[in-house]
Amino acid sequence: MARSKIVIEPDGESVAERAARLVVEIVRQAVAENGKCTVALSGGATPRELYRRLARSPAREQIDWGRVHLFLGDERVVPQEHPDSNFRMVKELLLDRVPVPPSHVHRIPAELGAVAAAATYEEVLRRVFGTVPGVIPTFDLILLGLGSDGHTASLFPRTRALGVRDRLVTASESPSSVIARVTLTVPVLQAARQVIVLVTGADKAEAVRRAIEGTLDLEETPAQLLRSARGDVTWLLDRAAADRLASAARRSDTD
Ligand code: 6PG
Repeated sequence: MARSKIVIEPDGESVAERAARLVVEIVRQAVAENGKCTVALSGGATPRELYRRLARSPAREQIDWGRVHLFLGDERVVPQEHPDSNFRMVKELLLDRVPVPPSHVHRIPAELGAVAAAATYEEVLRRVFGTVPGVIPTFDLILLGLGSDGHTASLFPRTRALGVRDRLVTASESPSSVIARVTLTVPVLQAARQVIVLVTGADKAEAVRRAIEGTLDLEETPAQLLRSARGDVTWLLDRAAADRLASAARRSDTD
């Protein structure tokens, strides 16, 4: 049975610290059970400090990076060197600093354009996970963020990508940017064994409330897709992002 957990930390630093400990725990358990761990990384600004912590002691030494396969949950359709590239950010803060084998790093080939990149990445997933069409690959861990409009990955409100159920990866568009996107689809996000949603800042508080407690309307708040997740979902929030949650849901989970 899927479990949804809300963990509230005082600030962004403690969110990143708690997230690093949780990621290490999940990766070590997956490697112990299956000999490997598959992780889809989030883009955006929030996970930056988490990636920095994973790339230094103690987390760096606690993970057997040779057993980890790293993917991206979504990507902007820009060159890899572009400041908006999620892969560029992940590479600088994490991939260049840990001994993950290059063959275990699976970037979204955004240079192909959104549609071709999505199709290519779908084949990468099928190859690495060994799944046939119709079978949804199960990531051990998917890291996600949340936009103030309620989007997650690159699944934005009232967009076509939100309705795609017969593909693993699809082209997408952000209403606030002309830059096209590529994203894992709803079924893939919902299939993960573990999902960690990292959200900080008062500007996200209303989106957090809608995602966790609001009236169900996936078109308006795509992050509500996590309510139907098959695995465990951990909302890892700072106090500012949790500020609009009903008191019943708020609990500052402490060790
Ligand atoms: C992206 C992310 C996106 C992000 C949210 C929150 O490519 O930008 O996948 O879903 O997680 O937009 O972004 P911030 O962490 O920058 O607030």
